[in-house]
Amino acid sequence: MSSDDQKRRAAEAALQYIPEGCILGVGTGSTVNHFIAALAKSRIRISGAVSSSDASTRLLKAAGIEVLDLNSSGDLEVYVDGADEATRHLALIKGGGAALTREKIVAAASRRFVCITDRSKVVDVLGRFPLPVEVIPMARSYVARQLVKLGGQPVLRMGVTTDNGNVILDVHNLAITDPRGLETEINQIAGVVSNGIFARRGADLLLVGNDSGVEVIKP
Ligand code: 5RP
Repeated sequence: MSSDDQKRRAAEAALQYIPEGCILGVGTGSTVNHFIAALAKSRIRISGAVSSSDASTRLLKAAGIEVLDLNSSGDLEVYVDGADEATRHLALIKGGGAALTREKIVAAASRRFVCITDRSKVVDVLGRFPLPVEVIPMARSYVARQLVKLGGQPVLRMGVTTDNGNVILDVHNLAITDPRGLETEINQIAGVVSNGIFARRGADLLLVGNDSGVEVIKP
């Protein structure tokens, strides 16, 4: 079974965690795209969605789902999103789709974060996937030098501007043995908007699509 089929399995399994009538937080990426398609086909009727990216907003609207502003929706019951890496302790790396800052905001405003991935994303230690860091453009070089001091090798993601008008540095060669500590430390660098470690607010539930079904990982 391909990793895309595994993603679809995890996405479909997430439907059972969506309460009827709720306002739903929706992440970004190919796994979430499967989720939006499954939600549109399902009988579940939600009151609306708060989206983490312009790309997901377009898909939600095309599926007939109203997209709401987080400033008027209040806290959300559930947030569904994918990840680039996940540990069995439910710490994540996100931001491969450059939507990490809005994803972090919507995750923070949600009571439950249901993360959906394929089997290849589950790791013992975060960091094989280069860590995305969203940076104010004028601080790019300064932030890159600070990230080198932390032991990483930052690379500017060419041709990418985030939905917030910023740039992304992808930091290679970090073995992230203390995800909460490194998340905090990187956030202290002036010019960093947010980083792709989701450990302080990690997932509450991880649904991993594999060849035989969907593994449910809880804290
Ligand atoms: C976007 C993300 C995505 O959740 C992450 O990149 C996973 O993407 P995909 O579902 O396409 O594998 O963090 O910023």
